[in-house]
Amino acid sequence: MKVTIHKLFEYFVETAAAEPPDCFIGFSFARPPRLKNFLADLDPELSLDWSGKSFLGLPTLRQRVLDQANLPQFSPDAVLITAGTAEANYLLFRQLLQAGDEIITDQPGWPQVGNIAKSIGARLVEVPRDEVQGWSLDPDAVAAAITPATRMIFLTNPNNPTGRLIPESDLRALAALADHHGIWLVVDEVYAGLEWAGPRPPSIAGLTPFGITTGSVSKALGLQGLRTGWMICQTPGVIRDAMILRENSSEIMNILGERIAEIALRPDRLAEALTWARDEGRATLDRMDAFVSAEPRLDWHRPEAGLIGLARLDGIDGESLARRLLEPPYRTFLLPGSAYGCPSHIRLGVGGGPETRLDEGLGRLSALLRAWPD
Ligand SMILES: Cc1ncc(COP(=O)(O)O)c(C=O)c1O
Repeated sequence: MKVTIHKLFEYFVETAAAEPPDCFIGFSFARPPRLKNFLADLDPELSLDWSGKSFLGLPTLRQRVLDQANLPQFSPDAVLITAGTAEANYLLFRQLLQAGDEIITDQPGWPQVGNIAKSIGARLVEVPRDEVQGWSLDPDAVAAAITPATRMIFLTNPNNPTGRLIPESDLRALAALADHHGIWLVVDEVYAGLEWAGPRPPSIAGLTPFGITTGSVSKALGLQGLRTGWMICQTPGVIRDAMILRENSSEIMNILGERIAEIALRPDRLAEALTWARDEGRATLDRMDAFVSAEPRLDWHRPEAGLIGLARLDGIDGESLARRLLEPPYRTFLLPGSAYGCPSHIRLGVGGGPETRLDEGLGRLSALLRAWPD
């Protein structure tokens, strides 16, 4: 069945076609570096052909991917380089699921999974996160959702859109569940690296042969335009099946994406970039937190990781507010919670750097909230 558009992407497409807003309260990635930051480390004689080294992707990049995920003991053949986390997820859904299978996911969560499951004829089973408990996910609720038809659990950790972390003990419980039932446990870790409330949780690929980590350089490093991501799995058939499907879409990796990502993930550069992104991210999150506290009609759980969170509105429909905010005199973008099935919420993001004009945007949001009829 044809893949249909989901609400989140539809909102982006629709609003991108309109007059560009002045301000953005919604970016999920750290301030993007410039090409000049990498030029000194790039070889001007680099051939712009395929790397010629492996259909899994540049071997040095695959080793860097393992190092940053704290899985240095794995073979680089446990990694497939992909066109972002989005492609890694897509390849997994298409190769590991069939019509009639059930796939469990968290709600709110990343809408890609529901969309592809529908096109395959798989059934999506949503396990609600608990807003009162700061959007936590109960592993027992995931266990209770398993049936003989369950083939996969798909989660985001840190969670998009709430920024909630699944702690290590719960990840271990989920890994044990996957082992016990023989179910794939795919954890999209694209927001890893900017943890505010504790250490980075372990990558799921290290906890069970059924665990598959997906990720990229898009968020904590702000390099989404490189379209460079990965999947990591100890089970060789998974990587091979994904490589075979990838040959039918992007075929091989984009060589500049691979080279620049490899430079960005070198340990000293990575440490410096993360320190920088953490300092800027924490400072902007502090400002956002103060803003939410001062707004009587807004409430949220400050994200435990990453640059986005979900705020509840008091008596206001999120999409009506987001659409009005896009119009003059406000001209400010934010994503309505309806993109995640949460109509009484809005997504607040602090990424993107100064070009987003976040503080100006927050001032305009405040003005609209105050003008909003009861
Ligand atoms: C949870 C999640 N997964 C995947 C993606 C896509 O990321 P990438 O640029 O790595 O393809 C996003 C982007 O917003 C995301 O939020």
